[in-house]
Amino acid sequence: MQNSIRITNDLFYVGASDRKLALFENIYPIPRGVSYNSYLLMDEKTVLFDTTDASVSGQFFENVGAVLGQRKLNYIVVHHMEPDHAATLQDLLLRHPEATVVTTAKAAQMIEQFFGQKPAALQLVKEGETLGTGNHTLCFTMAPMVHWPEVMMTYDTTAKTLFSADAFGTFGALSGNLFADEVNFEAEWLNDARRYYINIVGKYGIQVQNVLKKAAALDIQMICPLHGPVWRENLGFFIGKHDTWSKYEPEDKGVVIIYGSIYGHTEAAALRLGTLLGERGVKGIKAYDASHTHASKLVAECFRASHIVFASSTYNNGLFTPIESLLLDLKAHAWQKRSVALIENGSWAPQSGKLMRAELEQMKDITIVGETLSLKSSMQPLQEKQLANLADQIVQSL
Ligand code: FEO
Repeated sequence: MQNSIRITNDLFYVGASDRKLALFENIYPIPRGVSYNSYLLMDEKTVLFDTTDASVSGQFFENVGAVLGQRKLNYIVVHHMEPDHAATLQDLLLRHPEATVVTTAKAAQMIEQFFGQKPAALQLVKEGETLGTGNHTLCFTMAPMVHWPEVMMTYDTTAKTLFSADAFGTFGALSGNLFADEVNFEAEWLNDARRYYINIVGKYGIQVQNVLKKAAALDIQMICPLHGPVWRENLGFFIGKHDTWSKYEPEDKGVVIIYGSIYGHTEAAALRLGTLLGERGVKGIKAYDASHTHASKLVAECFRASHIVFASSTYNNGLFTPIESLLLDLKAHAWQKRSVALIENGSWAPQSGKLMRAELEQMKDITIVGETLSLKSSMQPLQEKQLANLADQIVQSL
């Protein structure tokens, strides 16, 4: 059954959601599913903006067929060649050999890499070039590394709609409400939007800033991303979040405690620090066991908060693996501009404080707050004062 959604009088949503996939990109858990958005403009010429992942191809082709009816497909605009948006492109071209693919030179090369041949009809576009489709004029703007090098976006100058590729997307399947203003986005979607942005595009803050600068020069009334809801109200809220994230600024002044603990002694000290912070009036403290929390959530939380406490056991004379892996992940995502406090543990030769510090020194603008609390097996009663001092210093730096 077709399940397209009318967006305006001539623009339709023809994408679909997947609730079966466990790991997006075979790495990120998506308990709320994910949508693969595709849009069909029914102007004098018909234009399809991107295709979908292979997993929802059946629904996608039904939707496209239902909206097109007897009309031909004139153009397929390919913004991004990652297979979650382009896996069905070759099949689409077999069904619509009349269509011209409009894309960047880099994307055309990737089409050949993925499918072994270039489309028969191909129109390469560059920054600022336009395509008239009848009532609408589409203007193409390059967005390299948001999230691959071939990415471009389309601004419909008539409808003032930005087709933003991966930008302004989020994990989460759609459930009947297409628009962000029809769901409780801040309560139900924002955590997934942050986790999506940070983990997928977080490394490319400079490139996202470039796109935001271009977007600021446009009168944008609607944003149609490749994942998640369409934005037609309160665009400033979501654009502002992306501005903060891509500048690597903290979203919240607050403390996140992340511990890697083998038998619970490191955990006990980390949680005691949480209590001491709470007693000093710090609100919204979050604590996570790195062994039981997916790295994508931890990375997103480290981007959200201003202050992070890392507590790690020593393991094989190195860092406890979940903490080591998290720090590598943060470094890979260019994490920076944060205050950090450290707790280490080791029964005979605590090394983890020194090793965490060495990783953090390779990141930009990380301020270490206070002295590393060094435990030997477990926190001793006399160390409570030291932990209280660390809590005081964290509070002062907030
Ligand atoms: Fe949603 Fe970079 O693909």
